[in-house]
Amino acid sequence: MDYKDFGLVNTKEVFLDALAKHYAVPAFNFYNMETLSAIVSAAREMKSPVILAVSESALKYMGPELLMGMIWGLNIKPSEKIALHLDHGGSFEACVNAIKLGFSSVMIDGSKLPFSANADLAKQVTDFAHKYDVTVEAELGTLSGIEDENTQSEYSSYANPNDVVNFVNATNIDSLAIAIGTSHGAYKRKSENEKLRFDILEKISKELPDFPLVLHGASSIPQHYIETINTFGGKMSDARGIPADQLKQAVRMNICKINVDSDSRLAFTAGVRETLAQKPETFNPRDYLGKGMKNIFDNCVEEIKSIMNSENKI
Ligand code: G3H
Ligand code: 13P
Ligand code: ZN
Repeated sequence: MDYKDFGLVNTKEVFLDALAKHYAVPAFNFYNMETLSAIVSAAREMKSPVILAVSESALKYMGPELLMGMIWGLNIKPSEKIALHLDHGGSFEACVNAIKLGFSSVMIDGSKLPFSANADLAKQVTDFAHKYDVTVEAELGTLSGIEDENTQSEYSSYANPNDVVNFVNATNIDSLAIAIGTSHGAYKRKSENEKLRFDILEKISKELPDFPLVLHGASSIPQHYIETINTFGGKMSDARGIPADQLKQAVRMNICKINVDSDSRLAFTAGVRETLAQKPETFNPRDYLGKGMKNIFDNCVEEIKSIMNSENKI
């Protein structure tokens, strides 16, 4: 189906607006009704554009029919500026499949390939996607941590500023994810003092002054959720994220999409653990899933206001 039939938009216009007004469009990952509903409710409440991100494993978990049925059920209007995005697409076929389902944006993640193979793959995807007015993100440099269940890299390797112009010209992509020191998951840093490589970001922004740049692995790992999880039976010591002030600085330097998954996972888990511990007699999943959903809503609202600066942009 065509994504426009679902009321979705691609990322082109929102990114241009984000660049002009210095905000980031939040890309929140979802994988069930609770996560989707909480994210969309928060974006609507904040009047923020939003990118609904689905990894290949999340797509498999929900099943394509149920996923697209939920998107249909949101009754989206194009004026709301909601995109449905394949996160870390691992192959040309995965991107084609998502586009045929009704996704309005895809990421082709060839970041672990050599430069020219990464560029060739991205070009193959843009040639196909652009025929359907679907926008394409690709990545340069790799992030440490788990990018998807079947793509892991042990060490960070930063995006090379000397490569970015060639890569964008060779591929015709619409946005570029760059590795500047973020990583996926809840254990990003050994100490509070580590900083993103703003020197690399500055060079890349100079090379590509009006081009949308993307930050993956950008969860801030709110410590109050870690405390709740640990208080109620969890074991997540030393979980640490990217501090909000560093993310805000990145937004001022042409980062116009910020990917967040782990923070929602923490918010949800904290809500479930707290409810089960405080109401040991409950066996109604709506009690604890409801609290998890409320936590995700609250966290998305907070991040839209305090990190993304995307409030009241639609
Ligand atoms: O960046 C990757 C996302 O956090 C996806 O993770 O494959 O477990 O859904 P997942
Ligand atoms: P986090 O693990 O920091 O939430 O990153 C999510 C992400 O990059 C999804 O693509
Ligand atoms: Zn990612």
